[in-house]
Amino acid sequence: MGSGNFSWRLRRVYGSAVTRNGGGSILSEFWAPLCAVGSHGPGGANAQVCLSVFGASIVPERPRLLVVLWKGNYTHELVLAAGTMAITVLAEGQEGLLAPLGLRSGRAGPKLEGLAWRPTAEGDPVFAGGAGWLRARVIEGFDLGDATAFLVGVVETGEGTGRPLRWQAAQRVVGEAFLATWAEKSARDRAEATRRMRWLG
Ligand SMILES: Cc1cc2nc3c(=O)[nH]c(=O)nc-3n(C[C@H](O)[C@H](O)[C@H](O)COP(=O)(O)O)c2cc1C
Repeated sequence: MGSGNFSWRLRRVYGSAVTRNGGGSILSEFWAPLCAVGSHGPGGANAQVCLSVFGASIVPERPRLLVVLWKGNYTHELVLAAGTMAITVLAEGQEGLLAPLGLRSGRAGPKLEGLAWRPTAEGDPVFAGGAGWLRARVIEGFDLGDATAFLVGVVETGEGTGRPLRWQAAQRVVGEAFLATWAEKSARDRAEATRRMRWLG
């Protein structure tokens, strides 16, 4: 099967049947830069890939973000319990982090081993080589059914290097093995989300 088919299936993961002239969904414009969202628990630190991180404040000295984490993710469980998270904005060239952090769950065993990261004061992981990073505390979690939208207050930010990595670009370089695994995982995740999500009507 060619990568074009995979790309189309992947667009459908976060997109819809609404297409633009270029063939992609207008909804893909809402994909945030790819981030590693991490937290910690008794078993140590864990992190996941996330493209649902959105600005949510107009007051510079009170920066907030909305971070949407699926309930099935181990990181979701850790953030709920710890109330803190660290976010690394991944940089172009860090596509290699997408498989260990985005295809596997920390529930299956520690997944940060061998990766370059440091803990924040709280114990949340910040990854080396990112375009930037921040520490945040949860203000409130909004129940979406299948996911929680965490409203977080940013307590510290740090600069990195490189340009933020976008899923639109990353899809073209991760390779077919990644895309095949991602397609299978996404099908399972979508079925679960369909059962649990709040929706119209
Ligand atoms: C490109 C990409 C984007 C993703 N975006 C999100 C997202 O916005 N929210 C989310 O909860 N999971 C997202 N995921 C899925 C998690 O990264 C994935 O389920 C991960 O294995 C969870 O790990 P954990 O169980 O250790 O927390 C994304 C994965 C990839 C590869």
